[in-house]
Amino acid sequence: AVRTEDAADGRSTANGRGVCDERGVTVLSPTDLSEMLAAGTKEVHEKAENTEFVKDFLKGRIRKELFKLGHVALFFTYSALEEQIERNKEHPHLAALYFPHELHRRDALARDLRYFYGEDWQNQISISPATQRYVERIRQIGRDQPALLVAHAYTRYMGDLSGGQVLRKVAQRAMKLPHTGEGLNFYQFDSIHSAKAFKQLYRSRMNELELDALTKQKIVEEAVLAFQFNMEIFGELEEAGKTLQDDVLDAAPVHGEMQGDISQ
Ligand code: HEM
Repeated sequence: AVRTEDAADGRSTANGRGVCDERGVTVLSPTDLSEMLAAGTKEVHEKAENTEFVKDFLKGRIRKELFKLGHVALFFTYSALEEQIERNKEHPHLAALYFPHELHRRDALARDLRYFYGEDWQNQISISPATQRYVERIRQIGRDQPALLVAHAYTRYMGDLSGGQVLRKVAQRAMKLPHTGEGLNFYQFDSIHSAKAFKQLYRSRMNELELDALTKQKIVEEAVLAFQFNMEIFGELEEAGKTLQDDVLDAAPVHGEMQGDISQ
């Protein structure tokens, strides 16, 4: 997930997240869930950005075998997340955040996996231990504390919308994938024309949820946990990378400036 366009937006405030009313008055408060999430995950977000796997990826140092394993982890994660979102879509704390057509990634990931592993992809993949822990947490939350699913949806979808286009480009170049987008469906949100506008809509929907202070706090804590689950998967991928043979290293380095481009 990578920073997007907010700064260039006339309506944004200094921190890039402000939403203004029609008179240009910022309608934001530190008790807004979107603000609490952004502030509460800032530190863990920086940690996630600095994991070796993520740093390597951004430099275009990504091997196809590892990228495939990353996609497998994402497939299991989104399958669990979206299954729990479906189950709870009428829950008052989730209904306003239900955007299956715009956001859901499971089918896109399935298409990517079919491209990478072939028709028999479902028999070729298996869930890793860190992914299993993440998935179990999502299922448990979906059963016992559905309001906290907001945290899991936020961590993944807002992140994906922030970084998609840059990561797509890096992956496409590094692995020389076709320009037509095969293998890259995960990064492609066909029904979202402006990631920036959609993120603003999502934030305002989060802020309109009727949540008490304690529940908001719990959502922030759950989001920190969600980041940590993601980092554990990165750690696992890093380890897997060490044992992969160098001869599958088909990464072509991308230009140095790609990294700066991250804050598009
Ligand atoms: C948003 C950078 C990795 C989750 C953002 C934003 C930037 C950024 C610049 C935009 C903030 C905004 O719109 O105001 C990066 C970079 C990464 C990275 C450079 C890797 C090198 C991750 C990871 C996750 C993640 C691994 C979680 C799995 C998020 C979330 C947001 C976000 C949830 C939305 C923040 C908000 O507006 O509340 N990221 N990110 N990011 N990213 Fe990342």
